[in-house]
Amino acid sequence: MSQKPANAPWRNFYGRRKGHALRDSQEAYLAEDLARLSPGAVDWDVNPERNALDLKALFGGRPVWLEVGFGGGEHLVHQAATNPDVGIIGAEPYINGVAMLLGKIRAAGVTNLAVHPGDVRDLFDVLPDASVARAFLLYPDPWPKARHHRRRFVTPEHLQPLARVMQPGAIFRVATDIPDYVRQTLEEVPPAGFDLLGESGVAWDDWIPTRYEQKALREGRVPHYVTFRRRD
Ligand SMILES: C[S@@+](CC[C@H](N)C(=O)[O-])C[C@H]1O[C@@H](n2cnc3c(N)ncnc32)[C@H](O)[C@@H]1O
Repeated sequence: MSQKPANAPWRNFYGRRKGHALRDSQEAYLAEDLARLSPGAVDWDVNPERNALDLKALFGGRPVWLEVGFGGGEHLVHQAATNPDVGIIGAEPYINGVAMLLGKIRAAGVTNLAVHPGDVRDLFDVLPDASVARAFLLYPDPWPKARHHRRRFVTPEHLQPLARVMQPGAIFRVATDIPDYVRQTLEEVPPAGFDLLGESGVAWDDWIPTRYEQKALREGRVPHYVTFRRRD
């Protein structure tokens, strides 16, 4: 974990950064692959000035997509593999998930991916304005208790910087299995600068179920898929 300099804002993070011990192979993926997959200087200790990333150098001018909290990375790798003309950045602070993603990247042989193994809010700081053509928020942490709803991603603290980095007309997809999360999403995303395009129980055409969705389905919960468009 990097040390933040004194000018870094305090950002509460309530999730897990580490789970069970990593396998040796996963430790090797982290040691060998992570630096090469970096989107550039994101962390505060290496970029205290918060200089913007050079996305052209990263992806050669391809459209840039972003997945927030990619978990084990199945959707991220699927999108990268099926959209070679796009560059995709994934952010995920849970290091076990990052290690799982790296294994999948090796297996799929995809090269149009970058990984920020940390909080997406640090990535937002250094993404240029209107630089992201599509964003995915798939099964964000539900925080079911009412007193914890302000920890959800769909709050202005996250949505305002997301809106800043998205291009006018860019698509923002949210999947969740929690009806109250749908409610808060429909309430909070439009005022941040997005129009609702659709809400459905049927997944997008290019969808693959994430690990979290598979668990939700096994436990009898019902997925909702919500699509927004960044306002011009
Ligand atoms: C319920 S899991 C879902 C994971 C995956 N999208 C899936 O569907 O299987 C939510 C994920 O969001 C990640 N997350 C929470 N806060 C985050 C943040 N500030 N930046 C990036 N990821 C975050 C968590 O670490 C966790 O892996």
